[in-house]
Amino acid sequence: MLKFSHLFSRFFKDKEDEPELLKQIDRTKLPQHVAIIMDGNGRWAQSKGLPRSAGHRAGVETLRNIIEACVELEIKVLTVYAFSTENWKRPEAEVRILMNLIVEYLRKELDEMHRQNISIRPIGNLGPLPEEAKKELFRARETTRNNTGLIFNVALNYGGRKEIVEAAKAIGAKIEAKKMRADDITEDIFAGHLFTAGQPDPDLLIRPSGELRISNYLLWQLAYAEFYYTGVYWPDFNKAELLKAIADFQKRSRRYGGLA
Ligand code: IPE
Ligand code: IPE
Ligand code: MG
Repeated sequence: MLKFSHLFSRFFKDKEDEPELLKQIDRTKLPQHVAIIMDGNGRWAQSKGLPRSAGHRAGVETLRNIIEACVELEIKVLTVYAFSTENWKRPEAEVRILMNLIVEYLRKELDEMHRQNISIRPIGNLGPLPEEAKKELFRARETTRNNTGLIFNVALNYGGRKEIVEAAKAIGAKIEAKKMRADDITEDIFAGHLFTAGQPDPDLLIRPSGELRISNYLLWQLAYAEFYYTGVYWPDFNKAELLKAIADFQKRSRRYGGLA
């Protein structure tokens, strides 16, 4: 009951703020790529006297709404941090719950996401994930491979340092095989060996829940992203909060080291 009433209040709050906020958004200056660290599920649950798993479940609901909003806004790329290389340190039971939620989510949402022309791209080292999760992730990737709408990167067993090391290894192997010379390595070539090859870098990084750190996320790609922090926990994040972040982003002066 508690959860239901909460969902309703979130829904209505969302709808109330949305038209007003939408007016503040310049549709011609949207971020091409939005990256999100979906954080605060545990604290959200704790604040309501619920188990952490309830927070993760509510967080999944938020994700569905945010994907929908990105499709509506015609944002090109959305990257979400779902499980880091460090999250294995959590109790086994919590890891299992998170992995099961991925399976459940994809089974439920894949058809609709495919219909919406979304291209699902799991990023990270999927090897150590449970077989069932891998199966659903590969199915989602293959089913939506040729879709031309929103690119949805979902970072799982992802670590920015690991990604950079793997890119360095791949390049090193090409050099060893004499397919490349060390001197040929450029920033573009290097970026082409990352999971996000061919995609624009994130323009906007959103971290809810009040933490001010990047927790090993997209270390290379975030070089010139605009950061947006909010104390709102991820399960309470919604379309209105996304619009607020975008409105804030549009006020920034991006100088890239130059002058305004
Ligand atoms: C984010 O919420 C979800 C994952 C890291 C998988 P947390 O579980 O980190 O929530 P807090 O930070 O403990 O509140
Ligand atoms: C980052 O959140 C990882 C994900 C959201 C998947 P964490 O909650 O794991 O990060 P720290 O421990 O606060 O840095
Ligand atoms: Mg956290």
